[in-house]
Amino acid sequence: MCGIMGYVGPQEATPILVDGLRRLEYRGYDSAGIAVANGSIDIRKAQGKIVNLETLLEVEPLAGSVGIGHTRWATHGVPSDKNAHPHSDPSGEFVVVHNGIIENFQSLKEGLIDKGAEFTSETDTEILAHLIAREYDGDIVEAVRRTVALSEGAYAMVVMTKREPGKIVAVRKISPLVVGLGDGETFLASDIPAVLHRTRDFIIIEDDEMVIVTADGATVETIDGSPVDREVIHIDWDSQQAEKGGYEHFMLKEINEQPAVITETLAGRLDEDGTVWLEDVSFDDDYVRDLDRVWITACGTAYHAGLIGQEIFRRVLRLPANVEYAHELRYADPIMSSNQLTIAISQSGETADTLAAARQAGEQGSRMLAITNVVGSTLARYADDILYTRAGPEISVASTKAYMAMLIAQYLLALRIGAVRGTVDPDLAAALSHGLHQMPGVIEEVLSREPQAIVAAEAIKDAQDVYFIGRGLDYAIAMEGSLKLKEISYLHSEAMPAGELKHGTLALITDGVPVVVILTQRAVYDKTISAVQEVKARGGRIIAVAYDTDTEIDKYADIVMRIPDVEDLLGPVAAVVPLQLLAYHVARMRDHDIDQPRNLAKSVTVE
Ligand code: M6R
Repeated sequence: MCGIMGYVGPQEATPILVDGLRRLEYRGYDSAGIAVANGSIDIRKAQGKIVNLETLLEVEPLAGSVGIGHTRWATHGVPSDKNAHPHSDPSGEFVVVHNGIIENFQSLKEGLIDKGAEFTSETDTEILAHLIAREYDGDIVEAVRRTVALSEGAYAMVVMTKREPGKIVAVRKISPLVVGLGDGETFLASDIPAVLHRTRDFIIIEDDEMVIVTADGATVETIDGSPVDREVIHIDWDSQQAEKGGYEHFMLKEINEQPAVITETLAGRLDEDGTVWLEDVSFDDDYVRDLDRVWITACGTAYHAGLIGQEIFRRVLRLPANVEYAHELRYADPIMSSNQLTIAISQSGETADTLAAARQAGEQGSRMLAITNVVGSTLARYADDILYTRAGPEISVASTKAYMAMLIAQYLLALRIGAVRGTVDPDLAAALSHGLHQMPGVIEEVLSREPQAIVAAEAIKDAQDVYFIGRGLDYAIAMEGSLKLKEISYLHSEAMPAGELKHGTLALITDGVPVVVILTQRAVYDKTISAVQEVKARGGRIIAVAYDTDTEIDKYADIVMRIPDVEDLLGPVAAVVPLQLLAYHVARMRDHDIDQPRNLAKSVTVE
């Protein structure tokens, strides 16, 4: 996720672009840059937050009234001045900013290198600038169109050329893009809040559309060149609502971003037959074949993601796997060796305990693979291999979309390792691949059922205690659902395997005590229903997360939150979303500070 801006009009572009980028900084903040046209096109860019760019612009200002800008969240290449956008072709006449991923960038790059091209950055974006320059024969719109035809992936890009002053061309393929219409001036941005204080009239660009922007307005076309008659919408949000994209809280916004996050995490990495490509994972096949154990280490929500990984490695790959809390593993004196792989999972890549456990694993000779959301984080720098989750910055302390991306990343890793070891049946690999590619649509559907989470939230908002149960993968989801609820609603909640209930906790189940049960694992369905019956017999209230086709649960549950039927191995991906929404709505009903719950911090950098 990155933030992009564009401006054409009578005013100086620089302050408008920088101000817009500040408002888009939540989308990425590892580097930023702008390009302004004034006869020639000049670029200023700097690693780090927007403030570094502003400092640079004080020393080296840019004058001109047409420009584009970008704030970056790295996907290809570390955060650095040279990888910051905008990027240009070698002549400097064509400049590009871009949000998203060009999936076939490696083959495009190799093709350009064969033709003698040299690159100054490690980004996929620079390739676009080279291609556009090569395709240009007097019409920038056609050059962009031909470049888009060559490029695969999900992205938005904004292009400007010295050859056609006063014009910006932009394309949307999945990543968001809006046009703001002013009086004799036009804005482009990744989202409405970036320019809402300048205009309230917007055109939303949709997938596979391009827009040609001048000071007089915008012309929208399909990528194939057919005209599009798009309605101008008038926005009347207040500025606080706008920052959160119209959502009341960042947490809700991030929950709703999950379909897009899944698309980004998968982009360019998973073929239909289940073949996986992981750009920063370099272990060789002999090492993978010789692996005798996988350790997964993490804290909090990342640990809960690891529980899913553990189950997949064991069950699908038949490979011994242990997930351990990082703060426990570091003092547990584990027996590790070079035939083992340690996977450290951390959204921030800066959690002190996770870093310590990862270092310890490395010192003991285990290879170390980081699953993290932050490019260039301490964990990523330390790791032998990296699997970036590409969830974009997560603002809410309660992790949702980063967790989702961690799950998807682990399915990819398991498929990659399983293919080498020959332990994943090709039909299962293809089914998982298909299921993962369908998942953004499934999650959209689950999100559209938010009202059922509100009904469940009403039922538990005044409870003293809430229990979460499930078996296997559902137990992992129960753990995450319980953590989400307690950290933002401040209700006491506990999760346990469904079979464990009768070994003690059942003593606490009395009239009306809510028990949330997750039922996506068909192989152990009847066993879980036994626990449900134990709860019902003591007067407990059952709130279930169940597939659409599960009619049995209607006999026992007081409330059912339905999810579409999916392959059991992917059940948790869909089942966690109603639990995130449940936690959110309970906290909202209890009037809590949802994005910044008491006593907690987004990144725990102390032991
Ligand atoms: O940045 P990390 O993923 O390493 O953070 C680990 C935990 O602190 C984090 O997941 C925490 O549990 C979340 N706030 C829970 O929503």
